[in-house]
Amino acid sequence: MRRKLVAGNWKMHKNIAEAKAFAAEFIDLLDNKRDNVDVLICAPFTQLAALKEALKDSGVMVGAQNCHFEDEGAFTGEISVGMLEELGMDFCIVGHSERRQYFAESDETCNKKLHKLFETSIRPILCVGESLEEREAEKQFEIVGNQVKADLDGLKADQVSQVVIAYEPIWAIGTGLTASKEQANEMCAYIRQTVGQLFGEEVAEKILIQYGGSVKPNNASELLNMSDIDGALVGGASEKSDSFIQIVNY
Ligand code: PGA
Repeated sequence: MRRKLVAGNWKMHKNIAEAKAFAAEFIDLLDNKRDNVDVLICAPFTQLAALKEALKDSGVMVGAQNCHFEDEGAFTGEISVGMLEELGMDFCIVGHSERRQYFAESDETCNKKLHKLFETSIRPILCVGESLEEREAEKQFEIVGNQVKADLDGLKADQVSQVVIAYEPIWAIGTGLTASKEQANEMCAYIRQTVGQLFGEEVAEKILIQYGGSVKPNNASELLNMSDIDGALVGGASEKSDSFIQIVNY
């Protein structure tokens, strides 16, 4: 049985005081009976140290939302994987559609970032997903399959089994439009099949594949109970402890 991973993505929200307040409230709401679900929060860089400290005995993991693919250098404004490792980060999101759309993230840079992260113990959450136009043209499987192939290129099978892939249809992010549980499961199964063809059945059985895009307390349970959906990447509904805990307790 694969454990589920429910991950929050705070994007560019909250300051340090708000992050600490969230952590305190969230710890109060958490019970210890999380036998089959792990919890992660991916916060802006400035809050990572404080959040890691605030959550240190809770079992809740902390991650970043981006990294650079070089060790160091003249890359103004960027953060290296070594810098994230120094903060004890558990995960790092790679290739979120907002980064692909607004910051020229490509499959090539995603691939380099994945390789670089595997020089550390930080696990990647690789985001893939099609746009509305691509789905309307029935190209979603081709688009997502190509992203998976290009982004995982050159990784070893044991590394790929440590990657978390988040299927996030762009048309469902922040829009209130959720993929139906069937649409989401169908794509997660397709991603698993693609991983199996590229890296073998054992890896396909192990790899965690999340769904993301307007996951809320009222739809988490139906999505997370699907056979190929191993968790959720949650934006808006992860900002408040009371809605995020409902998703964790789906
Ligand atoms: P949303 O964002 O839950 O607000 O749609 C998901 C994401 O962008 O990861």
